[in-house]
Amino acid sequence: MTRRLLLVGIGSGDPDQLTVEAVRALNEVDVFLVADKEAGAGRTGTGDLVALREEICRRHITGDGYRIIAVPDPPRDRAPMADGAYGGEVRDWHAARARAYARVLARETGPDETVGLLVWGDPGLYDSTIRVVERVRASGEVDLEYRVVPGISSVQVLAARHRLVLNRIGSPITVTTGRRLAADVASGADNLVVMLDGGLACADLPGDDWDVWWGANLGTGGEELVSGRLSEALEPIRAARARAREARGWVMDTYLLRRR
Ligand SMILES: C[S@@+](CC[C@H](N)C(=O)[O-])C[C@H]1O[C@@H](n2cnc3c(N)ncnc32)[C@H](O)[C@@H]1O
Repeated sequence: MTRRLLLVGIGSGDPDQLTVEAVRALNEVDVFLVADKEAGAGRTGTGDLVALREEICRRHITGDGYRIIAVPDPPRDRAPMADGAYGGEVRDWHAARARAYARVLARETGPDETVGLLVWGDPGLYDSTIRVVERVRASGEVDLEYRVVPGISSVQVLAARHRLVLNRIGSPITVTTGRRLAADVASGADNLVVMLDGGLACADLPGDDWDVWWGANLGTGGEELVSGRLSEALEPIRAARARAREARGWVMDTYLLRRR
């Protein structure tokens, strides 16, 4: 029999930022699989993220006819590495995660159950869940069909908080990572959304002709926002990052960079 899997985008921190479709999907789920990052990778602050997911279930699911299974997340090498090595490391980690999910699906869920995966933000933006599920299907260990329910991404929350239109009229926007920022700017991008940037890569950009709209821990009680000319905003951003980390034990930030 084919197991049914729902990948549900749950927004980026505010338990009320779920679509009606997402709430309906949550109510169809018999068993949620939750990556247990603390057990697997020893990272701080992830308990808060687990609590947020639990709050979403409490707030939006009618009744308590579901169970939650924690799947230990395989450890990941987060040391700085070259782009080629990084790609290989990420693929190995996806493979290990897929093995962990396949094992739990086969042993701890029934073939007639609907299984739910809660995905941070939107599953289509810098998230590996769809790739991991495709690997589980390809492994042949469990028969799976799945549906993706979109979520509100951190990029959408950033734009709303700063009352921004992300693109200039008729112009493109580059969505990139801190790791890729310098190369994208060197090849001409001048309006960029930057994600996955633990080291504030924009501080190293040449020139003083950039504006920034920055946000951390968007949607949570410890949300921080800074905007202005990049050279003048860097110190306030560093201070706000430290405050956000202090408030919740973790910090995730996203920003729009635009050349003047
Ligand atoms: C693995 S990606 C996940 C992106 C997610 N799928 C989305 O749609 O926003 C993690 C990155 O998303 C951004 N991010 C996620 N949640 C955020 C939040 N609440 N506030 C600011 N940035 C956030 C950060 O750039 C972080 O490094």
